[in-house]
Amino acid sequence: MADKDDTNPDRGFLRGLQSYGDRDFSIYMRRAFAKSMGYTGEELARPIVGIAYTHSRFNPCHRHFPELLDAIKRGVAAAGGLALEFPTTSLHESTLAPNSMKFRNLMAMDTEEMIRAQPMDSVVLMGGCDKTVPAQLMGAASAGKPAIQLIGGPQMTSRYKDDRVGACTDCRKFWTQFRAGKLDRAGIDAVEGRLVTTAGTCAVMGTASTMAAIAEALGMTLPGTAAIPAVHADRLRAAEATGARAVALAQSDLTPDKIITTGAIENAARVLLALGGSTNGVIHLAAIAGRLGLGLKLERLNELSDTTPVLAAVKPVGNEFYMEDFFAAGGIGAVLRELKPLLHLDALTITGETLRERLAAEAGDYVDRRVIKTAADPIEPQGGIVALFGSLAPDGAILKRSAATPSLFEKTARAVVFTSLEDMAARVDDPALDVTADDIVVLQNAGPRSAAAMPEAGFLPIPKKLLEAGVKDMVRISDARMSGTAYGTIVLHVAPEAAIGGPLALVRDGDRIRLSVKERRLDLLVDESELAKRRSSHGVRPAGSGTASRGYDKLFRETVLQAPDGCDFDFLRR
Ligand code: FES
Repeated sequence: MADKDDTNPDRGFLRGLQSYGDRDFSIYMRRAFAKSMGYTGEELARPIVGIAYTHSRFNPCHRHFPELLDAIKRGVAAAGGLALEFPTTSLHESTLAPNSMKFRNLMAMDTEEMIRAQPMDSVVLMGGCDKTVPAQLMGAASAGKPAIQLIGGPQMTSRYKDDRVGACTDCRKFWTQFRAGKLDRAGIDAVEGRLVTTAGTCAVMGTASTMAAIAEALGMTLPGTAAIPAVHADRLRAAEATGARAVALAQSDLTPDKIITTGAIENAARVLLALGGSTNGVIHLAAIAGRLGLGLKLERLNELSDTTPVLAAVKPVGNEFYMEDFFAAGGIGAVLRELKPLLHLDALTITGETLRERLAAEAGDYVDRRVIKTAADPIEPQGGIVALFGSLAPDGAILKRSAATPSLFEKTARAVVFTSLEDMAARVDDPALDVTADDIVVLQNAGPRSAAAMPEAGFLPIPKKLLEAGVKDMVRISDARMSGTAYGTIVLHVAPEAAIGGPLALVRDGDRIRLSVKERRLDLLVDESELAKRRSSHGVRPAGSGTASRGYDKLFRETVLQAPDGCDFDFLRR
C-alpha cells in the first residue's frame, strides 16, 4: 500500500474520500478494499487514469472494445500510470427502445457522475456508436477532470454480388429496392448478412463517423485518430498512445473547458459542414457547447455553412467511398488543412499544442483527391447542412442539402399530413392515399417531447405507390431526426415541435407549404385567422405533460429541451 506520506487527498486513489468523521479511517478503508484487487502500494501511488468502458453485448459497434482496452492499459502502464476501467451506460442504435437518443442524456449523466465521484486524475472516454461519443463529451465537460476520447472506429465494407456494401446508407438502398419489388425476399435476406461484417461503427459518414470527426476537430482526441478503421492495427496503436497521453493529462490542469472553447466548437461545425456530416451532429454539438455555457446558434451555423465548402466524397455524399477510403485518403487532418484559413488556429488540442502547430506538423502529408477535395475545387462551394426559418419553424429546422435533390430546393406544394408514426405506418402504403410526387409529406408528433422521443424517423418513407412508379425523392418535413446515413430532401428538427404546440401541429392535408433553400425559409401558407381557429381547437398540451409518471421517462419528458438547444436536459446546461 502507499507510503504514509502518500495520502494527498487531492490526487490519485485517495481523491474524494468518504466522510466517516475520521479521515484516517477513510484512508484505511479505501486501502483495505484496494488491497483486495491485488494492487501494490506503488501502483496505487501512481496517477490514476479512469477508463469509461462501454463494451456491451447489446452494442455490436463496440464488440472490439476488450482489445482496445488492453491497448489503452498498456499505454497507461508504460507511461507510469494506473489504469482503472469502469462500466458506464452503452448505447447502440438498433437495440434501444424507443430510440437511443432518449438515453444519450442518461449516459451523459452516468459518465459525468462516475468521473466525478470516483478517484481518478484523468479519464479516457471509449466511445463509438452514435450517441456514445456526444454523451461522453457532455459528461466529461461537466465533470471537469482532464479527459481524452478514444474513438472505436468505423467498420470495413463487404460485398453483395457486384456491390460493395456498408452500413447503413446501403441498408436503405436495398430496403427501398425490396419495397419497390426490385429485390426479392431471398435477396434482402442475403443483404442482411452482408451489411455489417466487422466490428466498429457504420462504414459511411453517418452520425458515428461525424461525431468522431467532431471529437477530433474539437481537439478531444489524438490527432489523426478519429477515422482509423476499428479493426486496423493503427487503432490499437492509437489506443496505446491515448493511454500514455492520459497519464500526462492526469498531471496537468488541461480540463475540457480549456479545449472545448467557442473557437473549437466553430472548428468542429466547419468540419461537420465540410464532411456533409450527419444532421444529428448539429444537435450533439449544441448539447456539448451548452455544457460549458457556450452555444451554437442555427443562425451562426448558416453563416458558417455559407463559407464552408463540402470536401469529402464519403457516402451518403457521392456514391462511391466509405470511411476506410476516407482514412486512407488522409482523414480529418486532410480536411482541416484545406479549411485552415477558416479555422480558429489558436484552439488547444489534447496534446497541449494548438491546432496551428498540429497542422504545421502535418503539412505535405498525402491526400487522395478522389475522396478529399481541395477548397479550390470542392464538391459543393457551400456547407452540407442549412438551417431554415419561417412560419412553420419559428425556432428553426435543418436540411441536409448535400444529401438532397437540388431540383426540389425551391418548392411550394400541397401537404399530405400524418399525425404520428402510427398513423404513417397505417396509411403510407395504402393505394388509396391521396398523394402525388409533387406533394410535401409531413409527419407530426415525433419531436423530443413526443411519446416517440425524437426518433430517427425523419427519413419518411415515400408512399409505396409512388416508389413503384419510380419516384426516388420528394420533400418530407417533420420534427424528428434522421440517421446520418440517410439521404433525400428531408427537413428535420422543426422547432418548436408539434407536441408542445409548434406550428407543425397546425398543418392539415391540403395546406400549402413553401420551401426555399435559397432564402432559408420554411413557411406554412395559411391565414393567421385560420391558424388561430385551429390553435384553439387543437387542445395543445403544456410542455412536459404526457403519460410518463415516473423514473427516467418522467425526467426526460419534463426537462428535455428542443433541438436548437441540443435536446439536453434544462438542468444540465451551464
Ligand atoms: Fe452503431 Fe451505426 S449502429 S454506428
